[in-house]
Amino acid sequence: MTSPTLQELERLTRDAGVILREGYSKEHQVSFKGVIDLVTEIDHASEDFLLGEINKCWPGSHIMAEESGVTKGDADHSWYVDPLDGTVNYSHHIPIFCVSIGYAHKGFMQLGVVYDPMRDEMFSSERGRGAWLNEKPLQVSAVSELQKSLLVTGFPYDAWNTPHDNFDNFVRLAKLTQGVRRLGSAALDACYVAAGRFDGFWEISLKPWDVAAAGLVAEEAGAKVTNVNGNADYLSPPQSIIAAGPGLHSKIMEKLILD
Ligand code: IPD
Ligand code: CA
Ligand code: CA
Repeated sequence: MTSPTLQELERLTRDAGVILREGYSKEHQVSFKGVIDLVTEIDHASEDFLLGEINKCWPGSHIMAEESGVTKGDADHSWYVDPLDGTVNYSHHIPIFCVSIGYAHKGFMQLGVVYDPMRDEMFSSERGRGAWLNEKPLQVSAVSELQKSLLVTGFPYDAWNTPHDNFDNFVRLAKLTQGVRRLGSAALDACYVAAGRFDGFWEISLKPWDVAAAGLVAEEAGAKVTNVNGNADYLSPPQSIIAAGPGLHSKIMEKLILD
């Protein structure tokens, strides 16, 4: 099987982004996967399009996609697909969401692309070659002090029912920094770190398709990306992430309480 190119992933995310953009102002059919974990008909339309293209152009691929789960295939060619990251924003007509596709070859993330169709921002990365926003190279911020940093985080869908809700961490870090934002799209959060818009991002409960692509974008832009225990394998369960410039990463990690 041949591997995809970065341009091919960009084409897939751009075309799926058109589906999201065209559906954006319509009334959505919302169904619930959990009390506050929802999905719209546009998540499904975007995912159906992406899986159709991957299966047509790279048949036999192993695919992990948010809405349809795992399509078993050749593990040397693994895809991570989030057809709409930021679906709560989308369903409330808040224009902060994206399409995210990661491709791993022989167990290593090789390509990552995150496309924001409302701003026409294409974040892309290739292992060892770099990360770009609309073809301009990306570089993380050099901020290394918490008090000079602006951070972003997110909260799990079961925050109503779990002690691991990240709220204490949010309060603690908010009092040590310029602020902590909550945009509602983990993929854009990590890409904004890559772009130097945020100085750091952490989240304590995620799925591989949320950050497989954006994590590579951040790494290739110079960020240190680990799980909250400092382990470089941030895609294996129990999944979590810290993405920040090398000088700031450990300072965020030291302040997180994880029990
Ligand atoms: C969610 C978003 C959100 C994060 C959640 C994710 P979805 O993904 O990335 O920012 O806090 O943990 O599940 O459901 O919008 O694809
Ligand atoms: Ca997601
Ligand atoms: Ca999603």
